Amino acid sequence: MSELKKEFAQIIANQLNDVLSLEKIEKLIEKPRHSVQGDIAFPCFTLAKTLKKAPQLIASDLSSQISTPLFERVEAQGPYINGFYKREAVSKEIVTAILKQHNAYGSAAIGNGEHITIDLSSPNIAKPFSMGHLRSTVIGNALANLTEKCGYKPVRINHIGDWGTQFGKLIVAYKRWGSEETVKQNPIKELLSLYVKFHKEAESQPALEDEARFWFKKLEDKNEEATALWKWFRDESLQEFSKIYSLLDIEFDTYHGEAFYNDKMENTVALLKEKGLLTQSDGAKVVKLDDSGLPPCLIKKSDGATLYATRDLTAALYRQEIYHFVKSLYVVGHEQSLHFQQIFLVLQKMGYHWAEEMVHIPFGFILKDGKKMSTRKGKVVLLEEVIQEAITLAKKNIELKNPGLPNKEEVAKQIGVGSIIFHDLKNERLNNIEFSLEDMLKFEGETGLYVQYAHARACSILRKAGNVSGMNTGLDDDYSWELVKTLMAFPDVIQKSLRLYEPSQIAKYLINVAQEFNAFYSHIRVLEEDETLASRVSLVNAVTVVLKEGLRLLGIKAPEEM
Ligand code: ARG
Repeated sequence: MSELKKEFAQIIANQLNDVLSLEKIEKLIEKPRHSVQGDIAFPCFTLAKTLKKAPQLIASDLSSQISTPLFERVEAQGPYINGFYKREAVSKEIVTAILKQHNAYGSAAIGNGEHITIDLSSPNIAKPFSMGHLRSTVIGNALANLTEKCGYKPVRINHIGDWGTQFGKLIVAYKRWGSEETVKQNPIKELLSLYVKFHKEAESQPALEDEARFWFKKLEDKNEEATALWKWFRDESLQEFSKIYSLLDIEFDTYHGEAFYNDKMENTVALLKEKGLLTQSDGAKVVKLDDSGLPPCLIKKSDGATLYATRDLTAALYRQEIYHFVKSLYVVGHEQSLHFQQIFLVLQKMGYHWAEEMVHIPFGFILKDGKKMSTRKGKVVLLEEVIQEAITLAKKNIELKNPGLPNKEEVAKQIGVGSIIFHDLKNERLNNIEFSLEDMLKFEGETGLYVQYAHARACSILRKAGNVSGMNTGLDDDYSWELVKTLMAFPDVIQKSLRLYEPSQIAKYLINVAQEFNAFYSHIRVLEEDETLASRVSLVNAVTVVLKEGLRLLGIKAPEEM
């Protein structure tokens, strides 16, 4: 933890008489790989260069006379100065700090309340909410929580895909083969099957494609019939999506989707023209990017229709104007990498320095039996059904293991949803993920359930302990110590997780805490009446704080009983 690191750096600095600044010393400090090498280490290689002296020699000179309250001993091992914490003192200090700060433990004042916009989820109207959108939703939400934890103000933007040529196709399909009643009954399923049917029929009747283009043009020209159908599809779809969001318990600051920018795009095009960036190419308007080795960014088609890129450029301008973001994140699958490279480059060419703070945060696919899931052929898994299934499985588990549990429904939801989120977030985001409900809901191994269960177990110990009198005086056995050291790392893990835009850092960390807690719990008699009872109960309490807050950052609930 940074307090101890600071203390260690100070110890070294005191011996050094300004040869190296405190800040530089802190940067060089590392965590030894093996615990026999101590808990914290300072390598002397940099000093060796400055002092023109062998690092081994420096280490032994510097470490010869150090004594401090939080360190048992500080000793040279080869070119390193290794510090060994005084377990009792340190564990007392850490656990006390965690219990005092409670869910603010791990917060950092890196941001200054500045906005970070996060473009996440962003499903497409009239199409199912895919597993890819789920990934964007849960990764984006976790990142938003992390930015907030680090002192920024996140703006969660759901950039709904509510515009584009697919609406032409959908209108054609609906007019030919659809009915109001069936769409109302089951909007997404019906709209999807119309969409799929369109593509199937268009293979043998290419004229359908022209008809779809015609209808999309009508929509762009605000034709009444086309607009009414569009709006209806949109409303029905949003209602369906909101079921998923409420299951996941995720809220957005805005639902401004692609259509929101319709009346703002002319301004973007004019700006591009003014800055001399627009080029004609086969009747279309593009921004050339060959100096960066990229294909041109298409701004307007030859028929005057705008594109996905035009809308994203406009959205970026709008977001900067409204939020003055210090960072702008786009949590979108890696197959759109080129698109975002192009957008960011065009904005830089326009002279906006803030474009350098825009980041595409890509992620891999969700696979089913090794193959990518796709919407167009109708092979997609409907997400709401998946979530419901996970909840049902969780409920079966509860009936089996703890049938007397109060509020079973609520807990089953927390477990089912938590399992799905955790299964996603425990993987580094660029990895593809094999979709398996069975794996998600395992009690053992790297699952959300495992972490939630550790939390619930810790809560149950606290319930049994009741009000313990006595002071937290610290602990020094190996199991407690491993646990304390891990709890100590939480703030660093949070910051690293945000720096890398990797919620998986938190997920893996929580698995670690849960494992160490389980080891502690199975080797130590936590509730034994002796002089360290209060210290052990405090440690268990600190474990619940960190597990609960860590899960919250991932967007997962921590039931107290399950
Ligand atoms: N609707 C798009 C899709 O499903 C994702 C939108 C991502 N966000 C953005 N600003 N382009 O592929």
